[in-house]
Amino acid sequence: QPKTKSVSGFLRERLNDDILDMLRRIGRVADAHGFSAYVVGGFVRDLFLYRHNEDIDIVIEGNGIEFARAFARKEGARVNAYDKFGTAVIIFADGFKIDVASARMEYYKFPAALPTVEMSSIKLDLFRRDFTINTLAIFLNPDKFGRLIDFFGGMRDMKEKAIRILHNLSFVEDPTRVFRAIRFEKRFDFSIGKLTAGLIHNAVKMDFFKRLSGRRVFSELRHILEEQNPIPALVRLEDFGLLKVIDPSIRMNKALRQMLDSARNVLSWYVLLYRPEECRQWIVYFLVLTRHADQEKAQAICRHFELAPRHEKIFIQERAEAETCLYRLSQGLPDKNSRLYEELNGLRMELILYMMAVTSRDDVRRAISFYVTDLKDIRISVKGKDLQKMGLSPSPLFGRILRTLLREKLDGRLQTRHDELELARRLIDGRETAG
Ligand code: CTP
Repeated sequence: QPKTKSVSGFLRERLNDDILDMLRRIGRVADAHGFSAYVVGGFVRDLFLYRHNEDIDIVIEGNGIEFARAFARKEGARVNAYDKFGTAVIIFADGFKIDVASARMEYYKFPAALPTVEMSSIKLDLFRRDFTINTLAIFLNPDKFGRLIDFFGGMRDMKEKAIRILHNLSFVEDPTRVFRAIRFEKRFDFSIGKLTAGLIHNAVKMDFFKRLSGRRVFSELRHILEEQNPIPALVRLEDFGLLKVIDPSIRMNKALRQMLDSARNVLSWYVLLYRPEECRQWIVYFLVLTRHADQEKAQAICRHFELAPRHEKIFIQERAEAETCLYRLSQGLPDKNSRLYEELNGLRMELILYMMAVTSRDDVRRAISFYVTDLKDIRISVKGKDLQKMGLSPSPLFGRILRTLLREKLDGRLQTRHDELELARRLIDGRETAG
């Protein structure tokens, strides 16, 4: 029997009014159509973990698409509906989205061995989910708004900080859940339950993963690499013998561990310094994880994972450029800022951070960090149109003059715009008299 305690006070305490009102309106519209509405999954889990989460997943007992259309009409939002699955996405003018699913028997196929016959449709919907902590739901219809629905011991496992599957066939049904278990364990600092851990070992032993495409495995790896700190999960993957499922050549040895730690330091340094969206941390970590691979091997990994060409280019060509650059720097650091700038300019930030993470040379890392903090964003104020005003007509000489100005500025010989204009003038005159 589910516990049906009310958490409406807690909702009021934890949610901002916009979200809370939205949930109430969802319940009212569903009720008017004779449906029951629940908010489920990660949203509810994170509510009780005091973690920010505005990804609202709604399950409707009844026709979710009909509900979504009615709700969107009232709210002035759009709907994308997927008839085959009975799901819909409600999209508001400001981009805010709500996922809606229909809890209906005909959508679920369970292995015959599972006792599902007696379940209500919301219970069945929750039963097909991965872990108990993801099976919590909150009822939204007005009469019992805020009732917590907990069929499978989700609250107990939240208190015990446990990641537990719902039934023994969970990983057979969906082997990617093994990666999710590890990701959630480390994200929330929970522990994978004993039985669940045993089933993971079993999944590894029986190689459940051979039926997963490279694309799906990579998608799980990428989720892990996007976690705030992916390293504990990577270590845990290794402990379960799962890193080699990702790629047999990846070994969690001391050198890799050091590079990963270093990548983490470099990333947090960069994120504190700048806006994080300028740099995709999963790319930095993935570069580090696959550093051992030569060109051919790296190519094979990218193919297996079905990476997009734009990503493959980063992991193959751009990595090769970064490694060459790193080699040159370790042979001797440039004596001028402008030379250091020319070495590193053009490498995207993920590659720059990768170089900082993998180099064993402190002086090289310092030089690269100096480039990032002090050189990368230096610009000259003189533009082509300033040169035109000085009587020069557009030609390749423009580019040469502007590059010379930048070089001089990088090397500290130009302070003001006046200095730049003066040098530009001298360069033009020199050119004129010379040629
Ligand atoms: N789910 C599942 N099996 C999977 C993936 C997802 O059962 N392989 C279920 C989970 O129960 C989850 C829901 O689908 O609650 C939505 O999954 P997801 O979009 O990954 O959301 P979250 O659990 O919130 O994960 P995250 O916080 O990383 O977004």
